[in-house]
Amino acid sequence: MQEITARVLSCEPLCAGLTRIVLHAPEIARTAKAGQFIHMLVPDGAHVLRRPISLMAFDPAAGTLTLAIQPKGRGTQILCAVKPGDAVQCLGPLGTGFDGCGAQTIYFVGGGVGVAPICGAMDSFATPDSRAFFGFRGREYAYGMTQTPCAVTAVSDDGTLGERALVTKPLLAAIEEKRPDLIMACGPAPMLAAVQRIALECGIPCQLSLEERMGCGIGACLGCNVKAVHPDGTWGYKRVCKDGPVFDAKEVDLRG
Ligand SMILES: Cc1cc2nc3c(=O)[nH]c(=O)nc-3n(C[C@H](O)[C@H](O)[C@H](O)COP(=O)(O)OP(=O)(O)OC[C@H]3O[C@@H](n4cnc5c(N)ncnc54)[C@H](O)[C@@H]3O)c2cc1C
Ligand code: FES
Repeated sequence: MQEITARVLSCEPLCAGLTRIVLHAPEIARTAKAGQFIHMLVPDGAHVLRRPISLMAFDPAAGTLTLAIQPKGRGTQILCAVKPGDAVQCLGPLGTGFDGCGAQTIYFVGGGVGVAPICGAMDSFATPDSRAFFGFRGREYAYGMTQTPCAVTAVSDDGTLGERALVTKPLLAAIEEKRPDLIMACGPAPMLAAVQRIALECGIPCQLSLEERMGCGIGACLGCNVKAVHPDGTWGYKRVCKDGPVFDAKEVDLRG
């Protein structure tokens, strides 16, 4: 993990509601793993807390990181307005990444902005037998579906892209057809809870990338705790920034 000054190479719309930013950050790109994130300082000097953003792609040879950012509150709005040549302070790479575990067939599941880290996971771990399932609000919100290393099935809330369904519908149909060795998922909390339920009921190993409000991003403030289940059935807490954001589906309690 390093604190560096990254240079903005490009900043442009990716789809409705998402901005794609490419950073030159060779020190981070060199050691990054799919599923990790960077903690970005809002470049206005006024916001003290950094914003956690996942790696959608990273290229160690070119020294670049690709991000997809949703301008949600003030901090991400300012980040989405950066220009080529701007400098952004970043801490990273942070957190645990996804682990392919040598799996032959992986089902990737992404929802909305959660598709971004899943794209990184597909680049690192997809095999010809793997499949991806993406859920978007509608066609205009879709991204990450071209030049993918495995087949993608997309569904939408409004029926403008694929079937009008939750992403768990085609996932379940695919599991009935062929059981994967591993599921990797990132998306809104209800989607992750549903994927977790399916994986546990079907006995399929599953890794979930969680999102939680963060303070320090490096495990010191306990601001990002999630309820964790220990192997002996007792429970405690884990830090999303340091112990995650990627967790084994068996070790977190997402029932709220
Ligand atoms: C591991 C991880 C990866 C993420 N990856 C992405 C990504 O790739 N693209 C993307 O658009 N968003 C991502 N997010 C969510 C993103 O960090 C928040 O939307 C953002 O921090 C909100 O900041 P804001 O200033 O726009 O909003 P505000 O509501 O003004 O934020 C105020 C404070 O709350 C914190 N905060 C608010 N919402 C969140 C949240 N959901 N998660 C963490 N901190 C929050 C901010 O850091 C800040 O300290 C990720 C979150 C986590 C935890
Ligand atoms: S954000 Fe401080 S411990 Fe995770």
